[in-house]
Amino acid sequence: MRIAMIGTGYVGLVSGACFSEFGVHVTCVDKDAGKIERLKRGEIPIYEPGLDDLVARNVAAGRLSFTLDLKEAMQGVDAVFIAVGTPSRRGDGHADLSYVYGAAEEIAASLDHYTVVVTKSTVPVGTGREVADIIRRVRPDADFDVASNPEFLREGSAIGDFMRPDRVVIGATSDRAGEVMRRLYRPLYLIETPIVITSLETAELTKYAANTFLAAKITFINEIADLCEKVGANVHDVARGIGLDGRIGKKFLHPGPGYGGSCFPKDTLALVRTAQQVGSPLRIIETVVDINDKRKKQMAERIIAACGGSVAGKTVAVLGVAFKPNTDDMRDSPSLDIVPALIEAGATVRAFDPAAMHEAAKLLPGVEWAKDAYGTLEGADCVAILTEWNEFRALDLRRVKALLKAPVMVDLRNIYNPDDMAQAGFVYSSIGRPLVPAKSATSGTV
Ligand code: UDX
Repeated sequence: MRIAMIGTGYVGLVSGACFSEFGVHVTCVDKDAGKIERLKRGEIPIYEPGLDDLVARNVAAGRLSFTLDLKEAMQGVDAVFIAVGTPSRRGDGHADLSYVYGAAEEIAASLDHYTVVVTKSTVPVGTGREVADIIRRVRPDADFDVASNPEFLREGSAIGDFMRPDRVVIGATSDRAGEVMRRLYRPLYLIETPIVITSLETAELTKYAANTFLAAKITFINEIADLCEKVGANVHDVARGIGLDGRIGKKFLHPGPGYGGSCFPKDTLALVRTAQQVGSPLRIIETVVDINDKRKKQMAERIIAACGGSVAGKTVAVLGVAFKPNTDDMRDSPSLDIVPALIEAGATVRAFDPAAMHEAAKLLPGVEWAKDAYGTLEGADCVAILTEWNEFRALDLRRVKALLKAPVMVDLRNIYNPDDMAQAGFVYSSIGRPLVPAKSATSGTV
């Protein structure tokens, strides 16, 4: 089989590479000449574990290629995928569909045989129909069907998620299109992946419903964590106690500084706007959006409180700025709220992130960047963990304590154990667990 993939961002590049691994001939298309040149040289523009090898292997096998020319890419394809960005539109939070509609017009100009036009970008309900209308307006004679095939992969584990998904959702407008899509995903039948075939609108809404549900689940446990702190309970035990109920499920019950990333903030907002527009408001998600926004801002206050109520003239060591580990993605990362608030409060912020510093330096002016985790600590008044990178999980606590001016750690990802931290002599503050004063703290900063 043969496909074209428009857009070499996260979803497009990973999906294209993974389809080629399935044995499909894939041509990835992008408007960004620099990006296509780099990809042709084997340089991967995003940080995603395993993607460089996957791309190199399939390029070498002749199944994966990159081009600026959509017409050439669409020759003889069974399907063309639209995997371009759908950022939040400035001002109103609706998804900006200009790239999707632009792609539809270009596809129309290149259609010369029956082709399934698949939307893989996360798009509001009704976008697939609009894509079909655009193509029909430009080329009334074109032989095509539209389909929706939302992608559920997570950054940082994108390849595994694509290759072994919990399910594949396909919204198809004809049996013929459904059959093309089923053939593309044939390798997943072997591992018994459920394939959910629905209408176009249902598939489009399913993606938003999944992401907003998960955002609500995280927000729920974050609020329970806050309550735990007030009543002296432990949020991890609560999460385990409820998560073992199969109706609730164990995943996405890890408390933290609030969800970030390229999907949850944008998709919660877009669904809220769609729901308001059609007169069926999603009040629960409106509240989730509001709580999460406020939460990210409140996290700086926690750090300030741990530093004795003021960070003016103090140095805060920050470990991790990416919105989650194994990515260099800074989009809507909690650090973008926390770090400026600390600087605003008079702190010097010295930070380190294993992958995101290059990107973060553009977004977080005024931060001193260190070469490694320990490099952030010397003479700092406190260390705050913002992202749960593996390399921060097993720091040499003696060395950490020796480098810090005061043994104060604010762990917004709960990667350390409060008892161990007390034993090690830290004043340790985490999320949803009792605050632990140091056994032999040298400074009374609680
Ligand atoms: C998400 C969805 O999981 C994925 O299905 C969709 O296709 C894209 O959006 P991603 O944004 O890559 O994926 O990251 P994810 O691992 O879901 O984390 C999102 C945010 O939630 C991060 O900020 C993370 O730190 C936070 N999170 C996640 C929590 O705070 N607690 C959790 O238990 C899980």
